[in-house]
Amino acid sequence: MAKMTSASLMCADLLNLENGIKELEKAGIDYLHIDIMDGAFVPNITLGFDLINSIKKTTKIPLDIHMMVDEPARFIERMNVDKDDIICVHYESEKHIHRTLEAIRSKGCKAGLALNPQTPVENAEPLAEYIDMLLVMTVSPGFAGQKMFAGAERKVEKARRLLNEWGLQNVPIEVDGNISLENGRKLSLKGADIFVLGTSALFLKDKTLSQASDDFKAVL
Ligand code: DX5
Ligand code: ZN
Repeated sequence: MAKMTSASLMCADLLNLENGIKELEKAGIDYLHIDIMDGAFVPNITLGFDLINSIKKTTKIPLDIHMMVDEPARFIERMNVDKDDIICVHYESEKHIHRTLEAIRSKGCKAGLALNPQTPVENAEPLAEYIDMLLVMTVSPGFAGQKMFAGAERKVEKARRLLNEWGLQNVPIEVDGNISLENGRKLSLKGADIFVLGTSALFLKDKTLSQASDDFKAVL
């Protein structure tokens, strides 16, 4: 599977977002990662639905929407998405997550399932028919600038093995949190496919977005 990058917009210069997105287009970034938080599922609040709909009008880069909210089913209808966009919901956020995954697909986009660091990959097995992407969180979600959790490499390796066993060879694994050049290389070797790039590898003081993106792609 081709390796892909997803730029974490909460780490971008939000007062200059339109220009930033144009630079990300030139840099050849594959997805725009949009973190939606509710202050309950995670102790932070970031980007919102109106912003998603505005971003959708300014770029053709597909959106990778990461819902870190309790009961995300309440919000699926609010999002304007196309077939290449992904809406990703957390295993831990709903009692009946398969209904939410179905509701996402019925909007005509892709459904992602996210796992917090402590959630075993095996928990995704009953949902195998409902997922188009598996997001293995490499930090506890909520904040940029954290350190990758110690079991991340082992978990990605297991996720790739189990997805293949379940017949999901074409379902990509996304990794999110502290994806530096070094962690990106290690996780790529274990089978990660989509890399969320934030403060660890893309939005850096000493590099342009294009330089940082090229440097990252070189380690995959
Ligand atoms: C959380 C966010 C951040 C983002 C920040 O879901 O999506 O983790 O990736 O990137 P880093 O960890 O590099 O600052
Ligand atoms: Zn995220």
